[in-house]
Amino acid sequence: MSLRRKKAEELTKEEALSELQALARDLAKLDDAYYQNDAPLLADWEYDELKKRNEAIEALFPELVLTNSPSFKVGAKLDTGMDIIAHKEPMLSLANIFSIPEIGEFETKIRNFLGLLPLEQIEFVAEPKIDGLSFSALYIDGVFVQGATRGDGAVGEDITENMRTIIGLPKKLNGKDYPKEIEIRGEVYMTKADFFELNQKSAKPFANPRNAAAGSLRQLDPRITASRKLSLFGYTYGYANELLWDTHSAFLEKLKNWGFPVSPDISVCPNITCLEKYFTQMSEKRAELPYDIDGVVYKVNRIDYQKRLGAISRAPRWAIAHKFPAEQAQTKLNDIRLQVGRTGILTPVADLEPVNVGGVMVSHATLHNADELIRKDIRKGDTVIIQRAGDVIPQVVRVLTEKRTGSEQPFVFPDKCPVCGSHVAREEAAHYCTGGLVCPAQQIERLIHFASKEALDIEGLGPKNIQFFWEKGWIKTASDIFNLDNKADTLKQIDGWGEKSVLNLLNALQKVRENAPLDRFIFALGIPEIGTATARLLAQTFGSMDKILSVMNEEDALVTLTNIENIGETTGLYLIEFFREENNQKLIEELLNKIKVLPFEEKAYQSALSGKTVVFTGTLPTLTRPEAKALAQKAGAKISGSVSKKTDFVILGEDAGSKAKEAEKLGIPTISEKEFKDMLAIL
Ligand code: IVH
Repeated sequence: MSLRRKKAEELTKEEALSELQALARDLAKLDDAYYQNDAPLLADWEYDELKKRNEAIEALFPELVLTNSPSFKVGAKLDTGMDIIAHKEPMLSLANIFSIPEIGEFETKIRNFLGLLPLEQIEFVAEPKIDGLSFSALYIDGVFVQGATRGDGAVGEDITENMRTIIGLPKKLNGKDYPKEIEIRGEVYMTKADFFELNQKSAKPFANPRNAAAGSLRQLDPRITASRKLSLFGYTYGYANELLWDTHSAFLEKLKNWGFPVSPDISVCPNITCLEKYFTQMSEKRAELPYDIDGVVYKVNRIDYQKRLGAISRAPRWAIAHKFPAEQAQTKLNDIRLQVGRTGILTPVADLEPVNVGGVMVSHATLHNADELIRKDIRKGDTVIIQRAGDVIPQVVRVLTEKRTGSEQPFVFPDKCPVCGSHVAREEAAHYCTGGLVCPAQQIERLIHFASKEALDIEGLGPKNIQFFWEKGWIKTASDIFNLDNKADTLKQIDGWGEKSVLNLLNALQKVRENAPLDRFIFALGIPEIGTATARLLAQTFGSMDKILSVMNEEDALVTLTNIENIGETTGLYLIEFFREENNQKLIEELLNKIKVLPFEEKAYQSALSGKTVVFTGTLPTLTRPEAKALAQKAGAKISGSVSKKTDFVILGEDAGSKAKEAEKLGIPTISEKEFKDMLAIL
């Protein structure tokens, strides 16, 4: 635990991360010794130095703050992370667009979904997209009772006491015309002025107002939140026991009357030309606004339309974020390295001279593949323009060739994997290591993927620890992870691993053993081409791992798979190949012996259509096709693109063609839209 280190400002992102991890471990051990064993290992001033060092690095790299950060620990209340609160309605996110023509596409999709006539206008509300931290504030009988962060959308962190310290938050709503119970949602932010003032006073500046707001709000000690000036705007609602408004703009009016802050820069727009104007105006006004925005948001004004449109993939169909163009900066490209991914793909990565891009320090950019390197003629030593937009990985936009000195080196792909030495093959644009399971990088990346947040979310098993256990020879495959319990005693002896951190890891493993959601499990397997959305789709369609395994071995597996809306032939083939491969089968079997994979929980309600496979054909008299499909899905039906023996109903519209004939041939019942609508009823 040496104190002789680089200045925090001089750390690279990797160094910062590894030091934060080491500090979290060291400080936990010191806390243990002090509080549990009454045997301090360091003098108080030395302990304080470590804490300060941790805070200094966190202030410089707020995006790296660990969930088990020592800063979240207050005094002897050692293990208190923040409490968790379940949202009454999920907190959705927004889909993004980046150009003016996409506004028209957004409107067209809505028009088609709702089946509007050309003369029927859709009214929109255009709002600034506040760059802060979203919150949900629960009011019961007009009294603020609970505040939560977004978290994963289903559950967030309890920030009730922290939110109470925000002056702008009404602790009691004005007047009387509010629902008895309502989750008001919006954004907590820090004004530019308050951000500059805070940074001037503080020894450890925040990178931007958003990070300052997040860092200030997510504090275990509300006194810290209180000492920072935070502001907030409301812009939507989650659960409400009754809706006392029929448009979004009427809701915003109510919010204002209740005393809730609402952005003054919101406009009601009768058409998309007005939305386009709004975007241009806000782009120009952006710099003068007292708060940071990263785009604008368009919302359909009518609540009945919003309800019909519903949501897809955790984003409403009735709203969209139009983001401002990416922020750019110029820097030097020092080196090009190859990263080996879990499927063996070699991705060239640029090591950059760290540079501030719109408030965030960037030291790496992805270079995608060999074609990209050639197309942009990127060489080692080049001066480059890089950009970042939102949370996406920074990219190299172009090379400033006029700055070349002649010493720049083009990058040549090696013919051997830099990690395992296996032969490198090329398929279209991608180079990949043919080492497969033999390649340590691939093994480790698979393990990292398996335990990652979006997969099985095994807390305490991040990349660093996986690497460490792998090097010890304790874990080679995902199944070995669940044997780590046997190593607990050995682990406790290892520097940096206290009793507590070992216990936390064992608890995290136990949690997965008892309860692994099917969609996460499928995603965790790391099947090529299978992201979270497809994994969910498979879980939803087949319901259990048993069913999936049996389907994959059937002769007509590909037909069954491609019959699922949104699964094409390539994805289908990847799935079949993966599940029929012997090593994978063995791994899955081992895993299923160790962990309990829960059947997929249908979010859909129970109706006469639940679990039924339906096919639509022809033009329906009142419903548009997307709307009909969305309704069927909500009622628990599976939608297929073609008629087979497995189809339960074919919903017949006008001018139905071959599918109707096919249904007749196979003796599948056909129903009308009216009958379909009757079957949608909640049972
Ligand atoms: S509406 C269902 N309106 O942007 C509606 N979101 O990128 C969901 N945001 O998670 C949100 N300003 O945190 C909405 N005027 C605004 C917003 C806004 C900022 C944030 C919000 C959301 C994120 C999506």
